Amino acid sequence: METQTTTFFEEQLKQQFPAWEMIPQEMKLPEKKYEPLYLLNGKILKWQGPVDEVSSPLCINLNGQIKRPVIGVVPSMDETAAMNGLQAAVSAWDNGRGEWPTMSVKERINAMEKFVVKMREVRGEVTKLMMWEICKSLEDCYKEFDRTVDYIVKTIEALKDTDRNNSRFSLDEGVIAQVRRSPLGVCLSMGPFNYPLNETYTTLIPALIMGNTLVVKPPKFGVLLHQPLLNAFAECFPAGAVNFIYGPGSGIITPIMKSGLIDVLAFIGSSRVADILKKQHPRPHRLRSILGLDAKNPAIVMPDADLDLAVRECIAGSLSFNGQRCTGLKLLFVHTTVVDLFLSKLVEAIDALPMGMPWMKGVKLTPLPEFNKAQTLKGFVDDALMKGAHIVNKGGGSFYETLFRPAVVFPVKSGATLYDIEQFGPVIPVCSYNNEQEFLDFVTQSNYGQQLSLFGNDPETIAHLIDQLTNQVCRININSQCQRGPDTLPFTGRKDSAEATLSVSDALRCFSVRSLVAAQANTNTKDIVQNIITNRYSHFLNTDFIL
Ligand code: G3H
Repeated sequence: METQTTTFFEEQLKQQFPAWEMIPQEMKLPEKKYEPLYLLNGKILKWQGPVDEVSSPLCINLNGQIKRPVIGVVPSMDETAAMNGLQAAVSAWDNGRGEWPTMSVKERINAMEKFVVKMREVRGEVTKLMMWEICKSLEDCYKEFDRTVDYIVKTIEALKDTDRNNSRFSLDEGVIAQVRRSPLGVCLSMGPFNYPLNETYTTLIPALIMGNTLVVKPPKFGVLLHQPLLNAFAECFPAGAVNFIYGPGSGIITPIMKSGLIDVLAFIGSSRVADILKKQHPRPHRLRSILGLDAKNPAIVMPDADLDLAVRECIAGSLSFNGQRCTGLKLLFVHTTVVDLFLSKLVEAIDALPMGMPWMKGVKLTPLPEFNKAQTLKGFVDDALMKGAHIVNKGGGSFYETLFRPAVVFPVKSGATLYDIEQFGPVIPVCSYNNEQEFLDFVTQSNYGQQLSLFGNDPETIAHLIDQLTNQVCRININSQCQRGPDTLPFTGRKDSAEATLSVSDALRCFSVRSLVAAQANTNTKDIVQNIITNRYSHFLNTDFIL
């Protein structure tokens, strides 16, 4: 009986994968596969060495066989090629005296504005590649692209603001000084697959605009989508300011880190990998790390919560982009008195979520890009089942190739893998609680400390929980899912969840250090400073006000 049910759901999932001829023409990629291009020292080159195939999780039905199609290839670089990329960035930095790091803020802003214009021109191609590479719904691919452009525009405005504030001198205890923010050096930037454009650019762009030079390694999935943008980088910034490398982390990132030539590590990924990378640097005190790492954001649904709202937000929190968000809700604590009602509403809403190919209007659940991800998720679910939980929704946890039907698993108890691990997929573990202390204990004992959600209506209880939890996580969301946005708000975490804080303005600070020019305010020195300013001899020491 159980096997038949599973087979029925699997068959339903299998039917979702289209034959080539069923794919709308405007959603197809060009017939010619993407080639292994890369950007080195201002030039777009075709890689002549070994390549890695890029296959899409958007499987194709070829006469009943469901297969990941290959949509292009990317360079599989070796140590030498990776070090060439690093060397280009090191030369462009030139001990801080390179063209880009010494350019005036106004000129760097001009270059970035030109980049934004060119970036907008490739919106269609980048978003289509994103859809094929990671199967984010097309609607969300557009959102990610537009959010990224907005982020750059806001970054430019924030830098203007910072620079305007820094255009004045201070005078204290007979010392005149001008304090500015200076770049740090060579930055290695690595984004994650779930926001391959946005989260790469939320470190790349602030690092670049502050005058640092970069080596960028795109994520394993969501790699080709960077290709249409290489030209914009080549045309808008000096040679070597931005360089792209591709290949296995152990082969290309390890030697770069071991060289000691990286000044800033901007990495969004797992804390395990971040630890390995940091330890590889021979002089760790010279390395500034800006890290967005793992999270296991929980929600608590209290007895007086508006259950319809809680269900809506918990679904958005745990299933947006199939649960593949670092800010996703990954464990729900629901009060015993309302758990049955909550679960029935949750299941009803999940059953209504459209699942299918990413171009379908309104689609909410799409194929998963990571290899064997469905099997991994199924393993987590099976472990919880062995430890006393059951799957609440019909067909939950069934999968076919890259499509996985969300599983609501209840009751998930301490000891089950799903209680602690960041599942990063469409599995919703739920546990019931009697006393809020159980939720507080979970948060306190967790290795992660990014965000959490509180669903309830009693101001005193909510205030109590806020005060107990603000020193455990970095954002508490009241009656809403966890999220990063708006991008002007600080995005960070405690424990294994983050290092440094990102937001439009915070990122500019992360990728720079305060440098100042100071002088005794005696007449002679004042005259020298005045002379430098009047004659505009210096990019650093000036009082220009960027309009
Ligand atoms: O994957 C982590 C992202 O930073 C989450 O951003 O909350 O806007 O989806 P989001």
